[in-house]
Amino acid sequence: MTTEKTVLVVGASRGLGFALAEEYCRRGRQVIATSRGQSSSLKQLQERYPETLEIETVDVVDLGSVKALHSRLEGRKLDVLFVNAGVCKAKELTPVEVKEKDFLDMMLTNALSPMRIIEIFHNSVMEEGVIAVMSSEIGSIGKCFGFWELYSSSKAALNMLMAAFAARNNEDKRALLLVAPGWVRTEMGGPEATLEISESIPLVADMVERNAGKPGLRFIDRHGQILPW
Ligand SMILES: NC(=O)c1ccc[n+]([C@@H]2O[C@H](COP(=O)([O-])OP(=O)(O)OC[C@H]3O[C@@H](n4cnc5c(N)ncnc54)[C@H](OP(=O)(O)O)[C@@H]3O)[C@@H](O)[C@H]2O)c1
Repeated sequence: MTTEKTVLVVGASRGLGFALAEEYCRRGRQVIATSRGQSSSLKQLQERYPETLEIETVDVVDLGSVKALHSRLEGRKLDVLFVNAGVCKAKELTPVEVKEKDFLDMMLTNALSPMRIIEIFHNSVMEEGVIAVMSSEIGSIGKCFGFWELYSSSKAALNMLMAAFAARNNEDKRALLLVAPGWVRTEMGGPEATLEISESIPLVADMVERNAGKPGLRFIDRHGQILPW
């Protein structure tokens, strides 16, 4: 068994999650990367890092699947838990226009499911470790411009659930980060987004590293700037 630091990235089949897994592999970490189905990108990454990349399966909205992953990883200690999985549906729609199912899917995938994972896995994270979850700048209520409002509301709900978790666990020494990666060109971010993945993810990984051993909850961007709730 390696003595390298271990990182679990949940939702790493593509986009920012895949880039995080790749970045941590490049940094020599032991990486456990999850996808919900087969990911050819992760398979290829494993060919490049056969010793250090482990691929696991989990569908974040399926509580049974999350508990099964937790059982499979029993006894493993994590330096970083990074919950990245998320969906964006009905970007431009309003509450009257959106299909209810699309709104509920976003709430379930982006708010409730990450918090169930954090609840179930937080004791697997080292005391000086980091629990990070992908939030978004547009999850800020204080700085709301009405952009992608239904999706934004799912990230605001995530922020509230994480704040409630932090309040309930106020003696916890782990850093709790709600991460805003910037607007990034992925399938979700779209071609008009302002950043390449390479302009966001290395900075996110640096920022997470700097937060190790610093207890408390922070809504924080890739540069380490604290964002308004
Ligand atoms: N791109 C941006 O500008 C931006 C900005 C702020 C925040 N974010 C957040 O960053 C995260 C990643 O976004 P992205 O831009 O990389 O999006 P993306 O390219 O659409 O990738 C989304 C990832 O989430 C996974 N996922 C979705 N539902 C899942 C489920 N039920 N179980 C397991 N995995 C699931 C997807 O897996 P599959 O391949 O199986 O679908 C995929 O790996 C999301 O939380 C997003 O809200 C993105």
